[in-house]
Amino acid sequence: MPLAQNMNDAFVKTESQSKIPRVEFRDVCLAFGDKIVLDGVSFRINPGEMKVILGQSGSGKSTILRLVLGLLKPNSGEIYINGEEVAHLRDEDLSQVRQKMSIVFQEGALFDSLSVYENIAYRPRELGWPPEKIDAHVQRVMEFARLGEVADEFPEALSGGTRRLVAIARAMVDNPEIILFDEPTVGLDPPTARRLCEAAVRLRDLEAVTTMFVTHRLADVRYLASHYVLKNADGASELLEENGKLCLTNTRFLMINEGKIVFDGTDEQLWQADDKFLHSFTHEDEE
Ligand SMILES: Nc1ncnc2c1ncn2[C@@H]1O[C@H](COP(=O)(O)OP(=O)(O)OP(=O)(O)O)[C@@H](O)[C@H]1O
Ligand SMILES: [Mg+2]
Repeated sequence: MPLAQNMNDAFVKTESQSKIPRVEFRDVCLAFGDKIVLDGVSFRINPGEMKVILGQSGSGKSTILRLVLGLLKPNSGEIYINGEEVAHLRDEDLSQVRQKMSIVFQEGALFDSLSVYENIAYRPRELGWPPEKIDAHVQRVMEFARLGEVADEFPEALSGGTRRLVAIARAMVDNPEIILFDEPTVGLDPPTARRLCEAAVRLRDLEAVTTMFVTHRLADVRYLASHYVLKNADGASELLEENGKLCLTNTRFLMINEGKIVFDGTDEQLWQADDKFLHSFTHEDEE
């Protein structure tokens, strides 16, 4: 059954017309000892937008995600989630904010002793949801991530790519507003990496989830910038490629180098940017 036919209103996200960004950093600075990692970082992510975060190893990409999650505090500057400043929140208030977010790591961090179904159902069970609600949500996200056939398998029996799709399904099961991806395609072969990117694009376009997608693969950048999903009149979803004709307004790119944002804009601007560092990145060979 096509995804859309399976949706009920409870699952469909309606975005308010609010201009409040989902995530905003204002002049955030962070050092570990005397090593400055973020040096005055500011950016905004609007509801339903995907922000692709680029930068060399050690440039602070994962640190930004950990700040969003509240796992780290900045030395100075402010971090807003839905307009609420979170860097100075107490732990109990922070946990409320954190409930609206999920993260997908490089290594899916699944429970080896639980089936795919049970891995995905874990968090709803922890939240004490009634069984029928748990089942409806798990079935839906398994369908979204095309995992129906492996519901009863255990993680060790799955390929690396499928394990990461399970991690995505698990991250989206309780309808978070924000999903953070930390290099989810590292180590995957190109077709599998594309499947992962497709799942992120479908989350962006069909569910209007706000996403931060950290990667240093140029192939991911090209995919995320050029593919989009539309719902047909009959409710089925279709993956399309814009072939340079459109500029996806819900996808922005941010590049960090030596603690500073060196680029924040659309993919078209990214390909044209003539900053030396950007140039070397955007013109690196495809793997
Ligand atoms: N808890 C910590 N204590 C000390 N230094 C840290 C800590 N966490 C991160 N760092 C340092 O901060 C810098 C940024 O790290 P971060 O993990 O954010 O980089 P990254 O861009 O995600 O890199 P990669 O692409 O390799 O994942 C690195 O130099 C790292 O060594
Ligand atoms: Mg990292």
